Amino acid sequence: MPLWLLVIFLVLGGLIVVKMLHAIAVVSVFPVTQGAMFTSTARVKIEAIMNAVPMKPSDFFVDLGCGDGRALREATKRYGVRCLGFEINPLAYVLARVQCLGSGNIRIRWSNFWKADLREADVVFCYLFPDVMKRLADKLESELRPGTRVVSCNFPVPRWQPVEVLHAASTLHNDPIYVYRSPASSGSG
Ligand SMILES: C[S@@+](CC[C@H](N)C(=O)[O-])C[C@H]1O[C@@H](n2cnc3c(N)ncnc32)[C@H](O)[C@@H]1O
Repeated sequence: MPLWLLVIFLVLGGLIVVKMLHAIAVVSVFPVTQGAMFTSTARVKIEAIMNAVPMKPSDFFVDLGCGDGRALREATKRYGVRCLGFEINPLAYVLARVQCLGSGNIRIRWSNFWKADLREADVVFCYLFPDVMKRLADKLESELRPGTRVVSCNFPVPRWQPVEVLHAASTLHNDPIYVYRSPASSGSG
């Protein structure tokens, strides 16, 4: 077999294996994610978020379902903030850990964020799925301090009024990004 054909087979085989691992990982955590599957926010959208949500180095940035950890890396690179990412998908978790190696400001937990206490967060970021947003609103309202900034990609937080709705400067990645301040009733639960 010519070498070029072998190389093509190996590349295609590798891609198929990665796709299969991705599918298995997504399906295995579906009962927890309920449709918020592993896909990454476009860099142009993260750029728009970082521009619109300035942070102090003392701030604590939390990504609920951090995927490959790109928002965490950008937040600490841009503002020097401490970051925490929760990720339940094992493939995404490994990717995030590898790509965040060496950043002392970033912690990533292979765990379910529904079980976490978010009251220390200064900025909460998420890109989830419509089916979980009502439950998320309840959780944020009961745990966050009033005024905590919350950024949700693509899907609004029910009942909350956004202070801003961003659109990245890209025709391909133009979905809304909702920016909120958690309401005054938050943190009482
Ligand atoms: C659409 S991706 C967004 C990834 C990343 N935040 C980004 O914007 O690039 C949603 C991620 O949330 C994770 N996820 C969903 N529900 C979760 C839960 N309850 N606990 C931890 N991770 C969760 C999924 O595995 C998935 O990787």
